[in-house]
Amino acid sequence: MPSFLLINGPNLNLLGSREPEVYGATSLDDIEERAKSLATELGHELECYQSNAEHELIDRVQQAATDKVSFIILNPGAFTHTSIALRDALLAVKIPFIELHLSNTFAREEFRHNSYFSDIAQSCLFGFGAYGYELALHAASNYVAGREGK
Ligand code: DQA
Repeated sequence: MPSFLLINGPNLNLLGSREPEVYGATSLDDIEERAKSLATELGHELECYQSNAEHELIDRVQQAATDKVSFIILNPGAFTHTSIALRDALLAVKIPFIELHLSNTFAREEFRHNSYFSDIAQSCLFGFGAYGYELALHAASNYVAGREGK
């Protein structure tokens, strides 16, 4: 059974209470619970991981290669705009991934317009709020079934 990994970066543990006008009212626990049950419906295993620490996110990406994870869904949080090290980890493991953001970062401050991940991601999702995680899971499922773009 293909296994998926959902990684959320810094401050995303605060979803629900953090700037709800930007990120919505859904908590990370609720997002992860919904994502796990959707993954099961789609016939996949899903593991969820969140950390505020760059090195822990890098370690988790490296671990994903050992665990033979088929696909990663990644919201790098603010590391999107800063972390060459996390980018290098994704390049090293060569696991396809979707870069996901709750908000449309292009419609926000200019410093959020740059991403160290978009050019190496299989695809990117911006601005669908918590629903973006469901869209990403459908896309990942389609991708591992070899049906991407069809
Ligand atoms: C975010 C966008 C980032 O710019 C920000 O630092 C976050 C959340 C999003 O999901 O919209 O922490 O990744």
